[in-house]
Amino acid sequence: MKILVLNGPNLNLLGTREPEIYGYETLTDIEAELHTLFEDVEIDFRQSNAEADLVGWIGESRGQFDGIVINPAAFTHTSLALCDALKAVADVVPAVEVHLSNTHTREEIRHKSLTAPACIGQIMGFKGFGYTLALRALVHKLKG
Ligand code: DQA
Repeated sequence: MKILVLNGPNLNLLGTREPEIYGYETLTDIEAELHTLFEDVEIDFRQSNAEADLVGWIGESRGQFDGIVINPAAFTHTSLALCDALKAVADVVPAVEVHLSNTHTREEIRHKSLTAPACIGQIMGFKGFGYTLALRALVHKLKG
């Protein structure tokens, strides 16, 4: 099973970025944890600050990956392009959306996700552990 894990803008700064909101784990810590916990899953873990990279990677995922875990970061609240990209491959590459923080407890602009309607589910509020939960849920769904 091959899973693409995508991370949006500023998530490369995890560890020092507002740790009281996002936790002290770095993105490298989270990636290492996934590789340890999901030995039998081939995980391709990527981050970009550019919307175009994320849209491109999602578009290329058809036939290459069985599913996507995505933290679109701020693009969650702005990007119809990411929503469209996820919908374009959703028939064969289901996605789970993950957020470190519980965005519903934060500023109103963060309450709406444009990307969630293109995903099979959403996990939020558990900091780095949310990635483990998201991958677990996706693998469960894929194994039927
Ligand atoms: C985030 C929540 C977003 O609102 C924010 O822009 C991020 C991170 C999260 O994981 O909690 O960059 O996606």
